[in-house]
Amino acid sequence: MFTIVEIFCFYDKILHERSDTMFKKLNILDEKDKRLRQTSKEVANFPLDKKEKKLIQQIVDELTFSQIDYYAEKYDLRPGMGLAFPQLGIMKRIIVIVHEVKEGEFDNYVFINPEIVSSSEEMIAAEAGEGCLSVNREVEGHVKRHARVTVEGYDEDGNRIRVRAREDLALAFQHEIDHLNGILFYDRIDPKHKFYSENELRLI
Ligand code: NI
Repeated sequence: MFTIVEIFCFYDKILHERSDTMFKKLNILDEKDKRLRQTSKEVANFPLDKKEKKLIQQIVDELTFSQIDYYAEKYDLRPGMGLAFPQLGIMKRIIVIVHEVKEGEFDNYVFINPEIVSSSEEMIAAEAGEGCLSVNREVEGHVKRHARVTVEGYDEDGNRIRVRAREDLALAFQHEIDHLNGILFYDRIDPKHKFYSENELRLI
C-alpha cells in the first residue's frame, strides 16, 4: 500500500524522469549578444503554436532542474528562477518563472505580453545581488526594485491572467520584464551607490 504522499512523490519522480530522458540543454545567449539589448515584440497570435509551447515546457524543465541539486550537477546548470524569450534569441514578449515555494515544490508562471499594472511604493533589493543566466560572472551591487508588483498578461491560449507577486517573486518578474525591454539587471545598479544599508533599503 502507498500513502498519498508516496504516490505523489512517485508521480513526481516519473514526471522528472520523463523530462530527464528527453532533456536537451537550452542555448542561452551571453550578455555580449546585442539581441539582449533590443526591445521584444508583443505576441499577436493566440494560441501559441506547438513549437512555442514545447519550448516553454523545455524552459520550465531546465529552470526546475537548475534548482534541484541532483539535476543541476548532472547537467551542469547554473541555478536560475527565470528566463525571457530574448535570452534564446527569440524577440517575443514571453517570460517564464519557476518559483520554489518550499523545498522541491515549484510554482510555474508563464506570462505573455506581461505588464506591471501596479507596484508598491516600498522598494527592496536582494541582499546577495541578482544573477542572470545570460551573465556568466559575478556582478556586485544591490538592484533596487519594487517589493510588490501586480502583473497582467496572457497565458499560452490567450486568456487574460494576473498575479500579485511579492518579495523574491516580485524581483523575478521585474528582472524578466526588463529583459523584454533590453535591460540587464546591472543597468540598475547605481555606480555611485552600489550597496545599501538596512537603514536605507530593506534587503531580502
Ligand atoms: Ni536575466
